[in-house]
Amino acid sequence: QKETTVLTLKNSNDGPTISKHIYGHFAEHLGKCIYGGFFVGEKSSIPNTKGVRNDIITALKELKIPNLRWPGGCFADTYHWKDGIGPKEDRPSIVNRWWGGTTEDNSFGTHDFLNLCEVLGTEPYLASNVGSGTVQELEQWVQYVNHDSGSPMSELRKKNDREKPWGVTFWGVGNEMWGCGGNMTPEYYANLYKQYATFMTDWSNNDKLFRIASGANVADYHWTEVLMRDIPKSLIEGVALHSYSFVKWEKKGSSTKFNEEQYFATMQTALKMEELVTKHSDIMDKYDPENKVALIVDEWGGWYDVEEGTNPGFLYQQNTMRDAMIAGTTLNIFNNHSKRVKMANLAQTVNVLQAVILTENEKMLLTPTYHVMKMYTVHHDAQLLPMTINSPSYTHNGEKLPALSASASKDKNGLIHISLVNIDSKKDHKIEIDMQELGIKNVTGTILASPKLQDHNTFDNPSKIKPAVFKGFETKKGKLEITIPAFTVVVLETK
Ligand code: AHR
Repeated sequence: QKETTVLTLKNSNDGPTISKHIYGHFAEHLGKCIYGGFFVGEKSSIPNTKGVRNDIITALKELKIPNLRWPGGCFADTYHWKDGIGPKEDRPSIVNRWWGGTTEDNSFGTHDFLNLCEVLGTEPYLASNVGSGTVQELEQWVQYVNHDSGSPMSELRKKNDREKPWGVTFWGVGNEMWGCGGNMTPEYYANLYKQYATFMTDWSNNDKLFRIASGANVADYHWTEVLMRDIPKSLIEGVALHSYSFVKWEKKGSSTKFNEEQYFATMQTALKMEELVTKHSDIMDKYDPENKVALIVDEWGGWYDVEEGTNPGFLYQQNTMRDAMIAGTTLNIFNNHSKRVKMANLAQTVNVLQAVILTENEKMLLTPTYHVMKMYTVHHDAQLLPMTINSPSYTHNGEKLPALSASASKDKNGLIHISLVNIDSKKDHKIEIDMQELGIKNVTGTILASPKLQDHNTFDNPSKIKPAVFKGFETKKGKLEITIPAFTVVVLETK
């Protein structure tokens, strides 16, 4: 007889909305994310739309990606947007100093990115260059993409064959300013931020610009404290936070050949996200009790050694059931903190870090992380339901982690969805939910599972891991009893 964990869930209408933007993505000029990933060029034999692979477009549309951050990352603070507009043959080549020292020809620029976002039906999130750019450069970028008519930049845009502005709402003001963005102190950056933000005029969006300050590195709470203290609320809509999951930063290990100890260590850093968003939110609550400024986790995900034989600067790694565990638990944490966390961006969409899509020449595969994100689309813009769960422990070498993670929401049709993750590498766990209290009668489910934690999809076997119908539950006297197998993600739909 296995121990059963009681999950109490209230069918209330008081919870915050889980912003769909929590399910955002990130595409940097890094390795084979843009060039050789998304973008193969119009002359490629791979079917494409204006140079972007059609299979990627289809997959991302099915994933309903709500926003896409571009062009970096560290690359953003070296990027000069005017290099990427106008006739492609006239664009200058640049060297990507952060990622592999590659030369790129700027054939994928502002128009290419924003038009792609239109095709995908996703909101662009432009990350601007504060580290090596100028206030004027950013002011003009906003004008170029958002001003309707009659300004120098709107006329330049029209000359480049785009009549109407795109109306970009989300803007990052620099990236990792404590590191690759310029090695600044928070006090110095807060001043710089105010200067840049002041000149970001909202031309066509009726004052709807959403300006995001470059945020803290993991547990640097002082960074958040200074930004929240020094930047007036009239100049800021979001504060970022970056946190990655790994075995050890100095010794990351293989993405596929890892042992129990390495798995446990990775999950320790992944689950740390709970503490991070709690403590950063507490600071924000102190300076912003009205909850006007959002916490934006615009880089998260697993980070391992690159695949053997690939360029170390390209950050190309495989994606296993371990990554599905990171995705499932992290997204549950964001859902549960959706009062303050309004956006997040998984790093990165294609061929880089915890990618949802991998490509190899004309082949493409969807990773376990893709499937988790897709299973969780039911939470997009749904109402968070309060819950308590006293998880049993997953123990390794005397150390403990909560084995179970959960979040739940009610969508606009009144359907309740519960996402459950069991990170325990060996044990199934039982959960009980009171159906009568919740007012539900019917339950269906989907599961992502595979025999080994190290399992992953390959170009020869791209569908080894994919969601399946879940039947591991029964109802007894008004109680729903669910058995969540070891290292699986389950999403239940209840009516
Ligand atoms: O996502 C890869 C890199 O990680 C980004 O460029 C940078 O912002 C972070 O350090």
